[in-house]
Amino acid sequence: MDIYIEPIADQDLKPLFSDPEQLGFGQFFTDRMFTMQYNQAKSWHDAKIEKYKALSLDPAACVLHYSQEIFEGLKVYLSADNRVLMFRPEQNARRLNRSAARICMPTIPEEDFLQAIKKLVMLEKRWIPKAPGTTLYVRPIMLGVEPRIGIHPSSEYLFCVLLSPVGPYFKTGFNPVSIYVEDTMGRAIAGGVGDVKTGGNYAASLWAGRKAQEKGFSQVLWLDAKEHRYVEEVGAMNIFFGYRDKLVTPVLTGSILPGITRDSVLKMAEDLGYKAEESLLSIDEVLQGIVSGEITEVFGVGTAALVVPIGSFYYKNQNYMVNNNQVGAVTKTIYNRLMNIQYGKVADQYGWVHQLGFID
Ligand SMILES: Cc1ncc(COP(=O)(O)O)c(C=O)c1O
Repeated sequence: MDIYIEPIADQDLKPLFSDPEQLGFGQFFTDRMFTMQYNQAKSWHDAKIEKYKALSLDPAACVLHYSQEIFEGLKVYLSADNRVLMFRPEQNARRLNRSAARICMPTIPEEDFLQAIKKLVMLEKRWIPKAPGTTLYVRPIMLGVEPRIGIHPSSEYLFCVLLSPVGPYFKTGFNPVSIYVEDTMGRAIAGGVGDVKTGGNYAASLWAGRKAQEKGFSQVLWLDAKEHRYVEEVGAMNIFFGYRDKLVTPVLTGSILPGITRDSVLKMAEDLGYKAEESLLSIDEVLQGIVSGEITEVFGVGTAALVVPIGSFYYKNQNYMVNNNQVGAVTKTIYNRLMNIQYGKVADQYGWVHQLGFID
């Protein structure tokens, strides 16, 4: 793929933030973005890296009416010796293509997805934050942009990649969070699109998320949308339960997003000496396990926050405290191991880390 790089004059570059504490999550964007167009005659074409700017969309564009939109989220990590690293980006390329296929969008060759991101990141490398726990977040999106009303798959698409320097996802740091178990609303239905990364799933989650936060909880635990019985995900993270002798995560039933962090934890677990299982877990058995002490720790996993210890669940007017609201030993081990691999602090025995280059 040939990528045209639009020149930007030095005086048009944005000033870098001076205080990494102010970064927050997803509030600042770099100078440039990658864009590429699709139509049926030319397939993907016009790949370019241009100045970050507002998009121009026809008000009749499909995405604005029928939500034909998908996205991804991955991070760039800077190692102590200034290597620019990414974690399993080919998995994001594959998941983007699974999402695309599910909602009738064109796929993107994996090598083009990786080339676009690598080129953009290295052009924008001055934006990679250096403070501990900070990263450059990469957000690819694909939109159906054909200007025609009437429910149909768009014949034209825009693929775009944005970069955002970010601090920790949770301001509370690596401390246990309290979870509201949602027992009436559902995030995603069986046979629907919960297992792909399309915006509508997140719109569907907003009401319950806001309600939980207003009640003082950090996130929602989603149960299956039919029976409100089986545990699915926590906020926008997959969930793991630590039993005395094993780690268990809900099996992918079709309404759960197959997280790349989830997959990594399952693969690492055995090497860290833990048995790991995927199974159907009902909320009743989970809460009983917490009360009996059989479940000793619980944590959420995802790219944005990596590993989030869970300190309590609130379900039908009752609070269930996990591990005395303390971070568990397995949670800590998994968090440290993953973070050390991502930041290039330890040898990567899995071949997960891609080195894009160096910063000077
Ligand atoms: C709904 C949902 N579940 C789980 C995850 C975790 O996935 P990953 O580990 O690939 O970031 C995400 C984040 O992408 C998500 O949006």
